[in-house]
Amino acid sequence: MSSVTTTQSPKGLEGIVATNSGVCYIDGERGVLAYRGIDIHELADHSNFEETCYLLWFGRLPKRAELKDLQHRLAEERRLDPAILQLLREAPKSALPMDVLRTAVSALAFYDADNRKNDHEANVRKAIRLTAQIAMIVAAYDRIRKGKTLVEADKSLSHAANFLLQLNGSKPSATAERALDIALILHADHELNASTFAARVTAATLSDMHSAITSAIGALKGPLHGGANEAVFRVLSAIVREKADPVEYIRNMLGQKKKIPGFGHRVYHTEDPRATHLRAMSRDLCRASAQPVWFEMSEKIEKFVKAEKKLNANVDFYSASTYHVLGIEEDLFTPVFAVSRISGWAAHVIEQLDDNRLIRPRAEYQGPEYPNRYVVLEKR
Ligand SMILES: CC(C)(COP(=O)(O)OP(=O)(O)OC[C@H]1O[C@@H](n2cnc3c(N)ncnc32)[C@H](O)[C@@H]1OP(=O)(O)O)[C@@H](O)C(=O)NCCC(=O)NCCS
Repeated sequence: MSSVTTTQSPKGLEGIVATNSGVCYIDGERGVLAYRGIDIHELADHSNFEETCYLLWFGRLPKRAELKDLQHRLAEERRLDPAILQLLREAPKSALPMDVLRTAVSALAFYDADNRKNDHEANVRKAIRLTAQIAMIVAAYDRIRKGKTLVEADKSLSHAANFLLQLNGSKPSATAERALDIALILHADHELNASTFAARVTAATLSDMHSAITSAIGALKGPLHGGANEAVFRVLSAIVREKADPVEYIRNMLGQKKKIPGFGHRVYHTEDPRATHLRAMSRDLCRASAQPVWFEMSEKIEKFVKAEKKLNANVDFYSASTYHVLGIEEDLFTPVFAVSRISGWAAHVIEQLDDNRLIRPRAEYQGPEYPNRYVVLEKR
């Protein structure tokens, strides 16, 4: 049958290069991930989340005064319109935090000072605002649903420390702050992953930043993407609850042709470089908090899945045990991913709009042959 398209695309667009970008470099064969060319290992060892945001949004590392200025601007944006807090209060207590976040981010547009603007400078301001606000929304909704009072933001704290303060009601230890800070750096960007692609597609219609980020949050939620970290913890919890042997539990899942959350990757064919750091963090934090079981179980599962299926752990596998021992609820794991990834999404939206063209691919038509005649209702 004739077709207007000339090529057939691989399922899931595997291997397709869909845009040019200067934000994130990945070499899936060698396990390399770099933001603006700077290796993720160097950033995890030496940087902080605010500096990583600067790097993503402005294309280079900040000088001291520039970093201070961005930290100040992020802290100044730590406020939510009372209507947003009201929206969080009115959400059902049973609502998934990820659904609440998606709805609240969409609603933030009503109260944004740059609501009708879509130029580069306005979008940088929106990036800063959304980064401050998303963390606050995640923390505030968790407290509201638990009947706890809201905690004032502390402008003197880092983004990571302020988030933990507003979530838990007390200033975090230096170890907890640094652990979350590193996790935020590691999750900040990942090239054209599903949620970032969704954000760019929305932005490319000349919609707006809030629409693009709302699209991205919807895409992140799924268990094949950001939702995997919660799914990992559900597996770990089930093993503990059922007093099961971790390896037998996973063997059984594989026997039922189930996918093991936290394993496999479309791009990496070797160790996901983010997993290297999260594994070490999980080990250290689990031991320090006298909950070594989560790490030990994870390690056994990782060894087994690697041997049995030749699949490597991805970013989500060890982030589950890491977040758990940081005191973060299981259904906040994916929202916490968004607390970080807003930085990368915004960088991609800004890049898209700086040199925009509508993203509108084609589909290879495989339906009934044309012309397939319309038959009136009485004759069907
Ligand atoms: C990440 C992921 C979506 C990549 O998907 P993909 O590139 O489309 O790869 P596929 O799902 O086609 O998997 C290829 C093969 O590996 C197997 N596989 C991939 N990930 C697997 C997993 N986590 N557990 C068991 N088998 C897995 C698939 O069953 C498939 O096997 P088959 O060829 O025998 O059918 C996939 O690995 C996955 O679903 N992982 C679990 C969810 C997850 O951790 N997501 C977060 C990613 S950062």
